[in-house]
Amino acid sequence: MDLALVDAQRTSARTPYVPRGIDFGCDYNPEQWDPAVWREDVALMRQIGVSLVAINIFGWSDLQAPDGSFDFTNLDEIIELLHANGIRVNLGTGTSSPPPWLTTRHPEILPVADDGTYRYPGGRQAWCPSSPIFRRAALALAEAVAERYGRHPAIALWHVSNELGCHNAHCYCDESAAAFRRWLRARYGTIAELNRAWGTSFWSQRYTDWAEIGTPRRTLSTRNPSQVLDFSRFSSDELRDHLIAERDVIRRHSDLPVTTNFMVTAHIRELDYWQWAPEVDIIANDHYLDHRLADPHGELAFAADLTRGLAGGAPWMLMEHATGSVNWQPHNLAKLPGQMLRDSLEHVARGADSVCFFQWRASLQGSEKFHSALVSHTGTRSRLWAEVQELGDVLGRLGEVAGSRVAGDVALLFSWEAWWAFDAENRPSSSVAYLDQVWATHRALREAGATVDVVAPGAPLDGYRLIVVPGLHLVRDAHAAVVDDAVRAGAHLLVTFYSGIVDENDRVRPGGYPAVWRDLLGIRVEEFAPLLPGDAVSLTSGTSASLWTERVVAVDCDVRDRFDGGPADGAPALTRRSGSGGSGDAWYLATLPDAHGLDRVVDDVLRGAGVERLAGAAPGVDVIRRASEDRGYRFIINHTASDAVVPARGHDLVTGTDVSGELRVPAGAVRVIREDAVR
Ligand code: GLA
Repeated sequence: MDLALVDAQRTSARTPYVPRGIDFGCDYNPEQWDPAVWREDVALMRQIGVSLVAINIFGWSDLQAPDGSFDFTNLDEIIELLHANGIRVNLGTGTSSPPPWLTTRHPEILPVADDGTYRYPGGRQAWCPSSPIFRRAALALAEAVAERYGRHPAIALWHVSNELGCHNAHCYCDESAAAFRRWLRARYGTIAELNRAWGTSFWSQRYTDWAEIGTPRRTLSTRNPSQVLDFSRFSSDELRDHLIAERDVIRRHSDLPVTTNFMVTAHIRELDYWQWAPEVDIIANDHYLDHRLADPHGELAFAADLTRGLAGGAPWMLMEHATGSVNWQPHNLAKLPGQMLRDSLEHVARGADSVCFFQWRASLQGSEKFHSALVSHTGTRSRLWAEVQELGDVLGRLGEVAGSRVAGDVALLFSWEAWWAFDAENRPSSSVAYLDQVWATHRALREAGATVDVVAPGAPLDGYRLIVVPGLHLVRDAHAAVVDDAVRAGAHLLVTFYSGIVDENDRVRPGGYPAVWRDLLGIRVEEFAPLLPGDAVSLTSGTSASLWTERVVAVDCDVRDRFDGGPADGAPALTRRSGSGGSGDAWYLATLPDAHGLDRVVDDVLRGAGVERLAGAAPGVDVIRRASEDRGYRFIINHTASDAVVPARGHDLVTGTDVSGELRVPAGAVRVIREDAVR
């Protein structure tokens, strides 16, 4: 992907989205409420400083009748009401969930799972991304909405569909198979080329005609991994095409910016947002803390840094998060007092200029009736409402932060296609997962006070002192070369195990892993030797490691640590090829050390690379800096149960007090210091 083009497209957006300070907003579903409630809602929104409201997200069945006619009466009224109260509208196209009359009339739009069974209406998003019938119907609705409101002064932003691919990312129906074949023809041109790319001489899979190729439905054995990988790419592209189609319809009627809410989060991996990002005028993300994970806040921090990466470092929008519990995890935890503010500002610290929630008023019916909201079932006589008011006040005081940017001097390479390839069937160990590797390094860097930009493989790496490549299993030749060039130009490098193993077709590069960076790292990995869950191995440094070992041969590097026991006994576990002639050091880590051991590795690497660290960062205490041309803002976010004492000097925008030298951040609190001087 040409990232210069990405920037050019983004900056050429006809009207940029400009938040009002740090926007405070929400999804609002007035169709679930009586008009009398609308007026109360809008009065309350004004009271707490809500500046942006997303509507018509699930409006289709209210707007359009089976005969195709539209009734905009309620939407007109809501938009006027918000406008009269100075609240800007983020207007949904409303196409996310087809109304029952449409799926009844056209059951062929329903998605099919990998076992060939249909997924039925009655929930949401019951549509196949490749269905031309659905596409036509959705575009007709988008067109009607855009035509009617394209120049309405209340509208500030367009919101295409909702969380495209949340439930329907992969469809295995015949229509999808036909579209997949078209996509493959465009990619490979000939059947011979496809056979080569997919390695179909394995297991007698050689194709003789395009018609023989289907979607990778469930098989008796495991499936062809290259086919599965291409199907993932195709599926992401199909939904991106849907986004583009709706966007282009809107652009015929409106100059306003267009976005859609991404899901940069742990449990959604089907959309390659590096490919989507250039298609929207501003990056928007939905993020929910995931209590199924060992470190939910670590995941939040990474997701926010990745979202900033998608935005090319520019400010982005937090389009949805929750005031308290969600309803879709096995155990839906309430937020602790103070946590909503803290979590909100963690996103702001990492570049968000909007803090929006799902949703305004908690539903009384439907699947999400036990999902938190700004106005809970209890109403405004509640602790939650007091916190919502406080959040509105604090965001009001943070207005001057809007537009400032985070600038990291560490680049962490992240890739959705590498995620798909890493976590595929038949990997060396099913306990080894891509995100775990990414999070492990991100955590160690964060706790060391380093500021990390998450970037796409292939993105320019100029200006970064350190490049971190955790578990980038699949890497394209051209993208590997960008890393080579950066190291030659002086950047330091840390690569962790299982990186650089396969090319873009999931074909292994032979001759010793990771062939693509073997010379750069000065090593050769001869054999993988993963560990059983729960097993550990010692390193000669005394560090304990788990999950993975491998038989590494040091070719042209210093060995900094070795396996002491286990299947790779005596082999290098950590190596460094010293830079010479202006190039940077290239480190390789062949296992997963425990947290303390990884901290030591990262500390050495950061020190060698001369990376600046923000003082006070510690486990559970995040320190991040946003800066504009003339101001710096230091965010200190204390997720722990103890007070944190950090060096800081300036004015705290959260409490309105001056700080000189040392700041005590109470347990669970957050502070935003406007610094006295620009660094
Ligand atoms: C997503 C959706 C919302 C809502 C929330 C619940 O983010 O976009 O409509 O379902 O999840 O967490």
